[in-house]
Amino acid sequence: MNYLQNKKILLGITGGIAAYKAADLVRKLKEVNADVRVVMTAGAMAFITPLTLQALSGNPVATSLLDTDAEAAMGHIELAKWADVVLIAPASANTLACLANGLAGDLLSTLYLATPAPVAVCPAMNQQMWAAKPTQRNIQTLIKDDVSIFGPGLGAQACGDIGAGRMLEPLEIVAHLQSLLAPKPLLNKKIVITAGPTQESIDPVRYISNHSSGKMGYALAQAAQQLGADVHLISGPCALTAPHAVHTTTVTSADEMLATTLENIDNADVFIGCAAVADYKPQTVAAQKIKKTAQSEMSIALTRNQDILATVANLPNKPFTVGFAAETQDIEHYALDKLQRKNLDMIAANNVAIAGQGFGAEQNALMVYTPNSQHELALNDKTRLATDLIQLIAEQINQHNN
Ligand code: PMT
Repeated sequence: MNYLQNKKILLGITGGIAAYKAADLVRKLKEVNADVRVVMTAGAMAFITPLTLQALSGNPVATSLLDTDAEAAMGHIELAKWADVVLIAPASANTLACLANGLAGDLLSTLYLATPAPVAVCPAMNQQMWAAKPTQRNIQTLIKDDVSIFGPGLGAQACGDIGAGRMLEPLEIVAHLQSLLAPKPLLNKKIVITAGPTQESIDPVRYISNHSSGKMGYALAQAAQQLGADVHLISGPCALTAPHAVHTTTVTSADEMLATTLENIDNADVFIGCAAVADYKPQTVAAQKIKKTAQSEMSIALTRNQDILATVANLPNKPFTVGFAAETQDIEHYALDKLQRKNLDMIAANNVAIAGQGFGAEQNALMVYTPNSQHELALNDKTRLATDLIQLIAEQINQHNN
């Protein structure tokens, strides 16, 4: 879900080598249809020109508190009120110190005091400067003042040092902003989600699995996090990057997924079983690679995996439990059967026989059933569909609690 659509972002750029990344950040913000106005400190202009930022943002760049022309066009108080959010990236140690102490010696620090909008900073500095006690004191003050701190990241720095102090990458900053601006109906809710396939070993080199890519489950995890939940994603093997600000554990087999789920389900408000868990595993796993024989056929004896979803749904203090049903026919009949048989609160059924949706696809369509309602979530990108499903879940659990 794009919470930055038409949002007014006041981007403050301060002096530091990471200022060059601000140009890409403006592009990324424009790509999600945000309206961006840039304010630069004198230090920022030593690294990148206002003309670049003006061209990319499509708006004039403000650089001085005492510029009569700029004040006549949009005064600094007007600019402070215009913003839906103030983002400072990169935020130098000096700027953090000014903000923490309420100094208003330049345009950006004055805007900080004058804005009613939420403020986020992306610190960027040498690792020793970041670790320094005054910087850390200033950060604690800013946190107490409700400023969101995005990063810094770890890694090699322009000065040759290695450590914490790098400005986050533009896409990471956009993801943080999306989370900041999303409504939070799931604040203080703990959600455990399984995603992806499981792999059931036959021998050291072979396994049984399926075509789940994890996209649907990862999208659900990100959507739940954006809506305020504390999310633990338990993922089978897949090639996706862990969603932003989601605690992610990777597992391989159904047994591991079950054990990790049970270790983490205490106090969960919601459990969503989106993983395509293998129903069966080989009865025994060969210690060595199985060799071909002269026979043209072979068979592997299988045994049932324990049902993770049904196990959670039958716990004494069960969370609101949501299953998925991957069906190829009689969708409603099979989904309702699973809802009842596994003691679920909700089931999201998808028709995995239709090309372009379900396993591995970018899109999906869901029929969602509860014991007394049904909702159609029409074909859409999995990210959008995930937000719609998480919103439905939020409505249901808030109804339960009222
Ligand atoms: O990962 P993607 O490529 O994005 O694809 C998404 C998806 C098609 C995998 C997803 O939308 C989906 O349908 N997930 C459930 C797949 C599945 O295993 O469905 P099922 O009908 O076989 O299982 C029913 C439910 O029982 C599921 O919630 C499943 O997680 C759960 N289950 C099944 C077996 C088992 N041993 N333990 C379980 O928890």
